Amino acid sequence: MNGGLFTATAVAHPNLAFVKYWGQRDPELNIPINGSISVNLSGARTITRVSFDPDLTADAVSVDGSPAAPQALARIVRHLDRVRGLAGITTCARVESYSDFPSAVGIAASASGFAALTLAASRAAGLALDLRALSVLARKGSGSACRSIPGGFVEWVAGHDDATSYAFTIAPSDAWDLRVISVAVSRESKPISSLRGHRAAFTSPFIAARLESVAQTLGLVRVAIKRRDLELLGMTVEREALSLHAVAMTSRVIDAPWLSGIYYMQPDTLRLIQAVQAWRSDGLGVYFSLDAGPTVHLVCEARSVAQVMAALDEVPGNDTYLRILSSPGRGVWLVDEAAGGDAPTA
Ligand code: DP6
Repeated sequence: MNGGLFTATAVAHPNLAFVKYWGQRDPELNIPINGSISVNLSGARTITRVSFDPDLTADAVSVDGSPAAPQALARIVRHLDRVRGLAGITTCARVESYSDFPSAVGIAASASGFAALTLAASRAAGLALDLRALSVLARKGSGSACRSIPGGFVEWVAGHDDATSYAFTIAPSDAWDLRVISVAVSRESKPISSLRGHRAAFTSPFIAARLESVAQTLGLVRVAIKRRDLELLGMTVEREALSLHAVAMTSRVIDAPWLSGIYYMQPDTLRLIQAVQAWRSDGLGVYFSLDAGPTVHLVCEARSVAQVMAALDEVPGNDTYLRILSSPGRGVWLVDEAAGGDAPTA
C-alpha cells in the first residue's frame, strides 16, 4: 500500500434466480443446501467506490447518499475485513454505494451491492482475484452476490466447503434474447428477512421434498437455457418459485412464535400470478418467478415485451406498480473514473 490512497470503483447487476437458494448448510460461510441458477438483470445496477485511506480511523460507509444503518454497516465492515485479511493490510476504507433501483422492492440490492463491493474493495486493496475467487469472496458477504460476479446465465454450485461453493457462467448474456420485467406490486418491506427465512427453512416438513426435486429442477433449467425452450424454462421456474414459498409458508420462525408461517406474497402478487396464467391460456408466452418478497418477475422473450406490457396495463391497480425491464446482464466490472467512466452519483 506504501501508505498511499488506493481507490477502485465497480458496477454490478442484481440477479433473478430461476432455481432458488433457500436454506444454508453453513450460515457462517453462506454455503447453501442446494445449487441455484440465475440471470443477471441488466435494468438495475449498483455502483460502489472503495478507497483505503490511512487517515481514517474507522471504515466510513454511505449507501445511496446516507450513512449506512448499523446492521448494514456491520455487514460491510465484516466484508472489508475479509478483503483486508486477504491483502494483509489493516487500513480503513471509505465506501460509497449507489443503486439505481429502490430498495425493498424485491430486487436483491444485497446481490449487486456485495458483488460490486467485492470487486472494488479487492482491487483497491491491491488484489487481482480471478472470477472464481471473487465469487467465493462475494458469497461470504451475501449468498446470492456470488451469482452477480460472472455474466449472463449463471450457476452456483453448492459445493462442500468455502473453496468449492462458487458461481460461473453457463451461457453468455447474448445466448438467449430473454427479458425479465420485474413488477414491484408493493413497497412494504418484507416482514422476515431472507436471512431469517434461510434459517427457518429447516423447520418446514416440505424442505426434504424440495431438496429431493432440486437436482431434477436444475437439470431442466440447464436444458431449457441450452435449447432456448421458454415453455420448459417458464413452467419449471414457476413451480420452483412456488416450492420456495411452500417451504416459507410452512416454516416456523423461532423469534416470531405468533407466525404459523412466512408469507412473502401480498394480495397483488397473487392477482398478478393469476393474470399471468390467464394470459398464457390466451397464447401469450410469459411466466412468473418470485423471490422472498411480493415482487413478481415476468419472464418472456424480447418479441413479447410490448404485449406483456399492454396486458399489465389492464391489471387493476397497475398504475401503482414499478416496472423494471432487463435483458440478460453482464458480470461485475471495474469503472475507470480517470478515463471518464461512470462515477458514483446519487
Ligand atoms: C429468495 O443471498 O439475498 O432471493 O444476502 O441475506 O439477503 P441475503 O440473502 P440472499 O438470499 C437470496 C434468497 C432468494 C433466492 C435466490 O436469490 O436464490
